[in-house]
Amino acid sequence: MKLLLLGKGGQVGWELQRSLAPLGELVALDFDSTDFHADFSEPERLADTVLQVKPDVIVNAAAHTAVDKAESEPELARKLNATSPGVVAQAAQQLGALMVHYSTDYVFDGGGTTPWREGDPTGPLSVYGQTKLEGEQLVASNCTRHLIFRTSWVYAARGGNFAKTMLRLAKERDRLTVIDDQFGSPTGAELLADVTAHAIRQTLRDPSKTGLYHLVAAGETTWHGYARFVLAQAQAAGVELKVQPDAIEPVPTSAFPTPARRPHNSRLDTGKLRAAFGLELPDWRLGVARMLKETL
Ligand SMILES: NC(=O)c1ccc[n+]([C@@H]2O[C@H](COP(=O)([O-])OP(=O)(O)OC[C@H]3O[C@@H](n4cnc5c(N)ncnc54)[C@H](OP(=O)(O)O)[C@@H]3O)[C@@H](O)[C@H]2O)c1
Repeated sequence: MKLLLLGKGGQVGWELQRSLAPLGELVALDFDSTDFHADFSEPERLADTVLQVKPDVIVNAAAHTAVDKAESEPELARKLNATSPGVVAQAAQQLGALMVHYSTDYVFDGGGTTPWREGDPTGPLSVYGQTKLEGEQLVASNCTRHLIFRTSWVYAARGGNFAKTMLRLAKERDRLTVIDDQFGSPTGAELLADVTAHAIRQTLRDPSKTGLYHLVAAGETTWHGYARFVLAQAQAAGVELKVQPDAIEPVPTSAFPTPARRPHNSRLDTGKLRAAFGLELPDWRLGVARMLKETL
């Protein structure tokens, strides 16, 4: 079997290089790859890449993920998040390939307090959310055999992340304020990559599993709860902090004005995914604690 991974250098792409490798021959590309064209800002050239590689499975981890920047460059965000995934999906359909794509809780308006299910009405609040919604619609309509995973609050051990920022600030500053009115589940890139590999294997055997799924770690928290957990883990590991976990001050979203609006309720119901693929999703704290052990 041959797999094509697009966006290999991102948080999720990096972990996919590991989790997809045992499934078959893996061609992994980034926007500056020289062997094949894989720059999503030039959608018209992507079909050739897919048709030349001739994969059985395409996994797209490339995206415009700078949520605030997207507000001032909507055309680029649309090319990366919608037009290009749509072109890749068309080429996948031509080959009869399975296409895997990622989307986001930002397709919802964040109202209410119950976890969103796959069929709930969408209502993006930002250019990022709107273009990601367009992307999932183009992938689903252009490629019959698709898996689309909506996820949230993604982190990875590699590169910068929220936990590392909180640790740095708690060492440097005397006060730390963190948003406590956005609810979601921090989800590790490792978990996304591992579940993706499981789901690909099962969907290749049983094409009725094709579709849209919510995929996040179990449990829920706020950014404030997330930061408290991170500092408590650091404290337990003997890291010296100027701000103690219980001293982090909770503030509303309005305390940090940003160009893009974020949903308050980012809870995603994962029942459909767990039932379809027979998987358990670990509590978010397990993945974050593990990532911190690698980082601290
Ligand atoms: N991060 C989150 O919190 C989050 C939440 C919900 C859903 N998601 C979704 O999960 C998926 C993976 O996200 P992630 O966290 O791994 O994002 P990421 O770390 O920002 O990775 C995105 C990848 O796309 C690449 N890219 C940027 N411009 C490109 C271009 N013109 N052509 C081709 N590739 C380009 C990036 O390359 P460079 O790094 O070199 O720019 C990077 O490798 C995305 O679909 C995202 O929308 C993410």
